[in-house]
Amino acid sequence: MSALLETRLSVDYPNKPGVLGDVRLTVSEGEMVGLVGESGSGKSTIALALMRLLEHKGAAIHGEVLFNGRDLLQLRAKEMRQIRGREIALVLQSPLASLNPALRIGTQMSEAWRAHASGAASKHWKVQALELFERVSLPAEESFLSRYPRQLSVGQAQRVLIAMAVLHKPRLLIADEPTSALDAVTQSEILELFRRLNREMNMAMLFISHDLLAVASLCSRIAILQRGQIIESGPTAQMFRDPRTADTRALLEAVLRNSSAVAEFARPESTVRR
Ligand SMILES: Nc1ncnc2c1ncn2[C@@H]1O[C@H](COP(=O)(O)OP(=O)(O)OP(=O)(O)O)[C@@H](O)[C@H]1O
Ligand SMILES: [Mg+2]
Repeated sequence: MSALLETRLSVDYPNKPGVLGDVRLTVSEGEMVGLVGESGSGKSTIALALMRLLEHKGAAIHGEVLFNGRDLLQLRAKEMRQIRGREIALVLQSPLASLNPALRIGTQMSEAWRAHASGAASKHWKVQALELFERVSLPAEESFLSRYPRQLSVGQAQRVLIAMAVLHKPRLLIADEPTSALDAVTQSEILELFRRLNREMNMAMLFISHDLLAVASLCSRIAILQRGQIIESGPTAQMFRDPRTADTRALLEAVLRNSSAVAEFARPESTVRR
């Protein structure tokens, strides 16, 4: 596997310097990588910096973001627009806030399609949209296209956003806490959807979450972020078996304690008092 994304990233906000300190991340072609860290550790800052969406916040970014060998930090705004949405796509935490409440789903899908398709291809958005809806387990019906965001469940809204994100078959999908607003069942369905998209489209993914179990169930490699620094990264199995830092060990112990307590409840002969 060759490196699709390779970063060396430092970020200062105007009133908060040193939010990211030399963050090194690598994602190979078709690989699922997890980024885990507590609230405020800088996860969303990484996602936005990779998409070059931090500049308008006055943030200073140093280092390099090599995507397919090109440094995205050196690209002109117009070149970056070509990459965004077409080669790298972003899915965020609050699906309903990411959709325009005043526009029908179909209108938003067609805009997402036209933003990056040219000429004749832009006419075929409806066929593509319905095909994609089927893929992401949404009703592949014209009537669904005429719904407004308020007529969707949160899980459906997230599927619509995922469909929009993968419309142009990006090589990398960055998902920043994509399942945090969802209930447990919908969350596991969305994780399964990501697995399928990864398999079927060979789409690499940077999955950002504070939920180590969700990350471990999806990703073959994990990086742990703490106060803007990657304190540990490696294959998922190895990290669970042999964590290198005390902080990672503490994080793993907390997660495993919770999950073994849950497993104990689930045992049919459980003697735990409910
Ligand atoms: N526009 C901004 N200006 C100044 N500081 C900011 C700005 N945006 C974020 N920060 C600070 O940068 C740090 C990292 O924030 P970030 O949103 O990247 O964390 P996060 O890991 O995504 O947290 P969460 O899990 O809560 O989403 C925090 O201390 C935050 O207060
Ligand atoms: Mg965040």
